[in-house]
Amino acid sequence: MANDDLKLKMEKIVSLAKRRGFIYAGSEIYGGLAGVWDYGPLGVELKNNIKNLWWKKFVSGREDMFGLDAAILMNARVWEKSGHAAGFSDPLAECKKCHQRFRGDKIKNRACPNCGGELAGERQFNMMFETFVGPAKDSSAKTYLRPETAQGIFVNFKNIVDSFHPKIPFGVAQIGKAFRNEISPGDFIFRSREFEQMEIEYFIRPPESDKDWQKFFDYWVAETRAWLEQIGLTKEKIYERNLSREDLAHYSKKTADFEYDFPFGREELCGLAYRTDFDLKNHSLDYYDEETKKTFIPHVIEPTFGVDRLVLALLAEAYTEDEMGGEKRIFLKFKPALAPIKAAVFPLLKNKPALVEKAREVYESVKKEIPETIWDDNGNIGKRYRRQDEIGTPYCLTVDFETLENDTVTVRDRDTGKQERIKIKMLLDFIRQNF
Ligand code: GAP
Repeated sequence: MANDDLKLKMEKIVSLAKRRGFIYAGSEIYGGLAGVWDYGPLGVELKNNIKNLWWKKFVSGREDMFGLDAAILMNARVWEKSGHAAGFSDPLAECKKCHQRFRGDKIKNRACPNCGGELAGERQFNMMFETFVGPAKDSSAKTYLRPETAQGIFVNFKNIVDSFHPKIPFGVAQIGKAFRNEISPGDFIFRSREFEQMEIEYFIRPPESDKDWQKFFDYWVAETRAWLEQIGLTKEKIYERNLSREDLAHYSKKTADFEYDFPFGREELCGLAYRTDFDLKNHSLDYYDEETKKTFIPHVIEPTFGVDRLVLALLAEAYTEDEMGGEKRIFLKFKPALAPIKAAVFPLLKNKPALVEKAREVYESVKKEIPETIWDDNGNIGKRYRRQDEIGTPYCLTVDFETLENDTVTVRDRDTGKQERIKIKMLLDFIRQNF
């Protein structure tokens, strides 16, 4: 696609996301808040589907993984020991003329991207949000909103070992909010100031050679890629990029970013880092191995995923325009497992009580088993199909006069528009076949 088309596609996605209740600008009625977004009724379902699939694959579906939900607020010492208080910063450049601020490393020719003015010398800007715990606002009460969920895992390492006595290697995973006071938030939900992460810290024995940690690293590269493809991202749009030494975070010995072809360019979707024993060592935590009777500090491989970037990638991947019945239509081609709504039930006509009664019966029986089922009797059938297409509902079930005779409904497939008659008693199996 040409650049202009991609820009237009992005605008259409943002507009559809708002129109159909996926994503709204945060605090919009007060002019918004830069870099902050709210998820509407369908956005929250899509996000939950992503998180549930991830949790099933990487946590509950495995024997060697433990789930966690640690607090966002942590003792400020965590952030001193983790190196974030001193080193979690981006270079900030300010224009001498218009006083706008930019991320220094993103500026190409040292001229202000806004007015072309001269940029003042760069300074480091720490991206953690400060806050105060309790009524006093002095330095002893100061802490930060967590900029990564990972530290909640590290500081609970001993608790989990004491409760479950896991054999190494094992992992601890959590999903939760993270906050970064980004200098330049942008590209819709791609770079925001409040976002959600899904992270795993996978603890391994201290390696005797590079090969020992590399095999785990390679394993997690393969697992990450497989999952990204499983949720429906096109293989050819996902790239692995090893970061250069200068680009590594302060804790990482090696990082591989998974980049994705977003409509605005190829950018980081998720990543994988070899954090060595940096964090556990700094928190003075170690592990007693019952097998070897030795105490050591485990090393860590960290797969990390941004939920919001996955939402955006999936929206971009799903957004499709085509022509049906001589009319242009837009539809979201989500895999059924990700679709916020799995099925919509319609009475053909809403002024025919027998049809409405039968349709309510079908709706209630399907909804009982598949809660992501909705009722829609608003407007003509064509309009209802378009509405469901735009939110990515895989199946529309219409109750018509034939239903009253033979207990079948028409099931319309979102992608092809094809309709077939299915016995009501077969509906659940039919809808579930693709989950
Ligand atoms: N614990 C490691 C860590 O936080 P990171 O690469 O800084 O690593 C992990 O962040 C993931 O979090 C990224 O790959 C991205 O998906 C997501 N992420 C980071 N900053 C973000 C932001 N400002 N807005 C949305 N997602 C972000």
